[in-house]
Amino acid sequence: MHRLTLLLTLALACFITAVDAQRPRAHEALYAQLCANCHGVDGAGGQGPSLIDDVWTHGADDASIARVIAQGSGAGTMPAYGEVLADDQIVSLIVLMREFRNRPQLDAAKQAAAGTDGRYKTDLTDFTLTEVFSIDDILWGLDFLPDDRMILSAKSGRIIITDGSTTTEISGVPAVHDEGDIGMHDLILHPDFATNGWIYVAAVVDGDPDSDERRAMTEIIRGRIRDDRWSDEERIFQARPEHRAAGRARLGSRLLFHEGYLYFTIGDGGPGEPSQDLTAPTGKTFRIHDDGRIPINNPFVDHESANVYRAIWTYGNRNVQGLAIQPDTGLMFATEHGPRGGDELNILTPGTNYGWPLVTFGIDYNGQPVSALQHMPGVQDPLLHWTPSIAVCDIHFYTGVDFPAWHGDLLVAALGQEHLRRLKLKGTQVISQELLISDIGRVRSISEDAEGNIYLVTNHRGENPRSHVYRLARKH
Ligand code: HEC
Repeated sequence: MHRLTLLLTLALACFITAVDAQRPRAHEALYAQLCANCHGVDGAGGQGPSLIDDVWTHGADDASIARVIAQGSGAGTMPAYGEVLADDQIVSLIVLMREFRNRPQLDAAKQAAAGTDGRYKTDLTDFTLTEVFSIDDILWGLDFLPDDRMILSAKSGRIIITDGSTTTEISGVPAVHDEGDIGMHDLILHPDFATNGWIYVAAVVDGDPDSDERRAMTEIIRGRIRDDRWSDEERIFQARPEHRAAGRARLGSRLLFHEGYLYFTIGDGGPGEPSQDLTAPTGKTFRIHDDGRIPINNPFVDHESANVYRAIWTYGNRNVQGLAIQPDTGLMFATEHGPRGGDELNILTPGTNYGWPLVTFGIDYNGQPVSALQHMPGVQDPLLHWTPSIAVCDIHFYTGVDFPAWHGDLLVAALGQEHLRRLKLKGTQVISQELLISDIGRVRSISEDAEGNIYLVTNHRGENPRSHVYRLARKH
């Protein structure tokens, strides 16, 4: 045996013991321990080639990269780690390499997408952003009343009506469980609001106060507003009592009316596994009638198990916070927060499994692997995924008149990476992405008023977060 190879083999033998003893390890530690020596602490290269220059001698896709890591290459100059690392650890190292590569690019794109005095220059058009409302709270949903005033939900459990200067707070709204990222979520008006007055909110609400647990869970609630008071309340979706207290996070919800049906989403609530279980309400998207009845053509209405939630539309969805219908095709697009990496854009079709947590392009926040699998028979692949994560939130297909160059494009809000991006699609294929705005905090919701103006709901991080509503206008 060649002397160098022998040394490497011995060194690897030590790694094997160390890695096994401390498994599971965060991927940063794995990289530092096993790879940084040759590939540099940030992947820029050294004795081994750069992992961030987009030059992949052995193939650029994840499977090819995984093969090199497992089998080694270059007559042993790149050691084989197949015996040392589990498949899911190799996947987590690939996520790390993608982070090394994409973070600086994302930072540069964000710098380029900052405005000057509310003016923005972008690839196809210039525009201005005007603040139309702000408040100390985390605003969530925004819709427009027939008289053009804005109606907003806030996470702490408030419903607010404002024209930008005169603001009314609605009294008697449902009490919510406001903790971490859960509380009152999206709000929308019934498509026939002008005649029936129905307003819908998705809110995480406490259950029976006499029980041991606090039993919070997402509910879909509708009501009307009479004399600035919430009235005629109806709870049109509630989970079964055993499914309350599903968790303290990721119960978030987006609402969408389409062809008379109400669609809503519930995140995985923390533990991912119930996302695959049709008898649990977390990690799903749902479809109901406007009064809560189950449509007879929902995908699981005839399921043999009595406990299956008949309102389920799709499953295996980690945390869907964006829903939008593509105007030309009528297809329903959905964005889903991944863990660390693996934010997804999907097209929702009834009864489909989107894979969480069996299949993901991401890893856990602490660097632990979630799954070695990125594809699986019976699981729908995403249309695209963002790794590293942008913390993708709301989406909106632009069809207004102000920006003809954006017609049919998908606007995408990012919370964690704090920006608005524009996706150009050809049919269902994403052909390009552009960051439009990057200096207004976490972008949560995108709404359009009757005239086709685009509004963004944002907030800043911090203990007493302040939220802003901005209107986009073409620069004339
Ligand atoms: C002893 C030095 C050394 C160590 C340690 C090492 N590598 Fe390598 N690596 C190399 C060399 C040299 C090559 C180029 C081999 C070739 O192109 O045939 C390489 C190639 C690669 C490639 C393929 C690059 C391409 O262009 O296709 C990947 C991916 C990779 N290494 C990842 C890793 C990871 C992940 C680790 C840690 C688990 C690691 N390497 C540890 C030396 C090393």
